Amino acid sequence: MTAALPSPPAESLARWRHDRLGLSLHFGLYSVAARGEWVRSAEQLTDADYQTYFDRFAPDPGWAVAWARLAKASGARYAVLTTKHHDGFCLFDSALTDFKSTNTPARRDLVREWVEAVRAEGLAVGLYYSLVDWHHPDCPATGDRQHPLRRHPDSPARDARADWSRYVAYLHGQLIELCTNYGRIDSLVVDFSYWHYVGEKWGATEIQQKLRRLQPHLLLNDRWGNEARKRIPRPSYAGDYEQTEQNIPREGLRDDAGQPMPWEGWFTLTNSWCYSATDTAWKSSATLVRALVNCVSKDGNLLLNVSPDARGRVPAEARRVLLELGEWLALNGDSIFGAGPAPYAKPEWGRFTARPGVLYAHVTEPVVGNISLPGLRGRVKNARLLAHNSAVHLADFWNPGVQTFDAPDDIFFNFATPTAGTYPLADERDTVVAFELNDDEATALERIRLDNALSRQIALRQPF
Ligand code: GLC
Repeated sequence: MTAALPSPPAESLARWRHDRLGLSLHFGLYSVAARGEWVRSAEQLTDADYQTYFDRFAPDPGWAVAWARLAKASGARYAVLTTKHHDGFCLFDSALTDFKSTNTPARRDLVREWVEAVRAEGLAVGLYYSLVDWHHPDCPATGDRQHPLRRHPDSPARDARADWSRYVAYLHGQLIELCTNYGRIDSLVVDFSYWHYVGEKWGATEIQQKLRRLQPHLLLNDRWGNEARKRIPRPSYAGDYEQTEQNIPREGLRDDAGQPMPWEGWFTLTNSWCYSATDTAWKSSATLVRALVNCVSKDGNLLLNVSPDARGRVPAEARRVLLELGEWLALNGDSIFGAGPAPYAKPEWGRFTARPGVLYAHVTEPVVGNISLPGLRGRVKNARLLAHNSAVHLADFWNPGVQTFDAPDDIFFNFATPTAGTYPLADERDTVVAFELNDDEATALERIRLDNALSRQIALRQPF
């Protein structure tokens, strides 16, 4: 029987859920290789092969400040940096290894630079740390389908000397360094559990307890074990929120007891996690806006990964798309930050988000004639275009009393009069209309939010 872990204060989770949009970056020696952060594994590179990138790693001074400013301008409220990826290379001045940025031509603690820059922009600080390590001699290589040295002739002898408990001590030691030397850390994102490398194999409960003592506000993701948060009863190392990867779920996530779980969809801006000179499949700002709205409409966050090149510079196209996203959020952020799902089914022309007293219609598809608000008759006080605070027209059936079909509770809205006309969307990516609701409806929305918040708090305090 393991003791229940201390929960982070409810405000940490409330702030994270309020913030809705985060930016992450994958940055390390693989940024020099520029062909995927798994390059060491995919090409079975030896330590000597990989040393070429170590010897050339020298991000420009000021890279972190530029990145943090761009993150802020994109509208993101939190940011996550890879302090160590699977290759084992550390972007921080760890006392436990020489395989770190202070020993490369960079000669700097890049985690410190980045944390300070991100904090200066008022963003919450998240650190990614890979549980997997392809550099550490105590992590076995043979028999592991992804270790770069899995077929190397020296590996059996290397593995005969490996001692897993030494690796766990190293892993714990580095997490303690990260949670001791860099001030307040808002979230720790670990990656990843597989095969029998899950949960207590990482000494998960013990280290989480230590980290929570060092950082009482710290939020933990779910990757200490597979599907850990979903299972009832929850394992003690389950973490605080769920992450989906390159996928937005059909509905908001729930655990096996049907309770809603805080969650975040994690996406790449191209199709790569780290810098690639050839991957130019940039998502457009329309795609990003709609993905963010999709997540929020299901009570989730979006974590968008934007990786700099080996000098630490964000490619021009990424910058352009992120600034467009930021412009949209500057005008429409009320429908995203602190907003959540609405108690109505997804409408035909887009999606709903809501906050107590206000319903937001995200119109993403042009509609012919009146735009319907299913089931909202008698509930709406007024309507406005959120981006411009200008009036939007509420309307009834074209021919009321005759032409109500089978939906007498529906009303309609449109951007101009006559309301049965067809008008272009002010923003083709997503035109947001805010509806002020009458009191009864506002109270109902408030109740739904309270129910959600309450069930989450109960879930968090539940003994394991
Ligand atoms: C995938 C990638 C890994 C990356 C992670 C981010 O699992 O393989 O490299 O860090 O996604 O969630």
